[in-house]
Amino acid sequence: MEQEVPKTVKPDDDHPANHHIQPHANSKSFLHMALFPITLKFEKVVYKVELKGAKEVILNGVTGMVCPGEVLAMLGPSGSGKTTLLTALGGRLTGKLTGKITYNNQPFCGYTKRRTGFVTQDDVLYPHLTVTETLLFTAMLRLPNSLSHDEKVSHVERVIAELGLTRCQNSMIGGPLFRGISGGEKKRVSIGQEMLINPSLLLLDEPTSGLDSTTAQRIMTTIKRLASGGRTVVTTIHQPSSRIYHMFDKVVLLSEGSQIYYGPASTALEYFSSIGFSASVTLNPADLLLDLANGIAPDTMNDYEQGEDAEEERKSVRKKLVTCFETNHPTTWETGLYDLDVCGYNEEKEGLTRDLEKGDLKLSISLESFKL
Ligand SMILES: Nc1ncnc2c1ncn2[C@@H]1O[C@H](COP(=O)(O)OP(=O)(O)O)[C@@H](O)[C@H]1O
Ligand SMILES: [Mg+2]
Repeated sequence: MEQEVPKTVKPDDDHPANHHIQPHANSKSFLHMALFPITLKFEKVVYKVELKGAKEVILNGVTGMVCPGEVLAMLGPSGSGKTTLLTALGGRLTGKLTGKITYNNQPFCGYTKRRTGFVTQDDVLYPHLTVTETLLFTAMLRLPNSLSHDEKVSHVERVIAELGLTRCQNSMIGGPLFRGISGGEKKRVSIGQEMLINPSLLLLDEPTSGLDSTTAQRIMTTIKRLASGGRTVVTTIHQPSSRIYHMFDKVVLLSEGSQIYYGPASTALEYFSSIGFSASVTLNPADLLLDLANGIAPDTMNDYEQGEDAEEERKSVRKKLVTCFETNHPTTWETGLYDLDVCGYNEEKEGLTRDLEKGDLKLSISLESFKL
């Protein structure tokens, strides 16, 4: 099916939500339209926290890039720093963050913030509201006053239809004490809340955790569809099935805050077998990647054993992976990372020129003022 992605959008109206409220009743779903494509680049992102007087490194130099239309998945065991990195990319991390994170070669600013949707891991919803009410209240709070009440209502209706929530639109969300909609539906409501502002950059923290594999697949299909309209999507994910893994365009693999892979999802296995970590049996690529991030080499007998020896072994595997990544990637990094065409994006055309030095603002500034 052909998708309609508008080629040019006038920049004069600043709020992203305004753009799809124009009278185009017969046009295809507005969710296919991302209006201001954002290319996100992050380079050598380091994050440290002070714990009991000692500095602990949470992120140890993570680099990558996502273009509009792509889905970047962040994989890694629990505690490896996925949420921290995602929070940093969303401009919500306070504290000592160094490295460079740019959005169309600009640092994070209010303009980016208005176009960023962030779906947290836990759905923060009022249990007693229905799905429609939840989205309507969000629309009232987040959409600009220039839209009339009716426009906001029709906007909500379209989001409900697009996310497949029609069947439960009048059901209550529910909470620990009374049943409401299912977990997958809740997750879709949370995504819907972000879709209302029609974000160009969508960040999701473990959108599929706690869901059965079919529902997880359905959610990922929705996310993939949102990306295919020209959005930039970054998602952390826990235990993706192989079907889901193949939907990712790029993967960042983290192990205790260090990066051990960044690149196309399709070549991850090739890369690991090139450095001596290949599995003899066919398995879900995500399983292999997570084992590696935990320091478990494929086909080793003492895979999941406890004990000091096994721990030492895992440490050395992890160390080897980190070293291999550091030595293998710098060349492709500096040359390959930044010279991609930003999908024809032109900031000047969009009236986005600022006084800031292009893209080179160090991120050691406090990002507190940008918190939602
Ligand atoms: N502000 C903080 N203070 C102390 N520890 C933190 C802080 N932020 C993150 N961490 C630690 O950093 C590690 C990575 O956390 P997180 O990004 O949530 O991991 P993941 O999402 O991959 O499970 C964890 O061990 C966590 O305890
Ligand atoms: Mg997390």
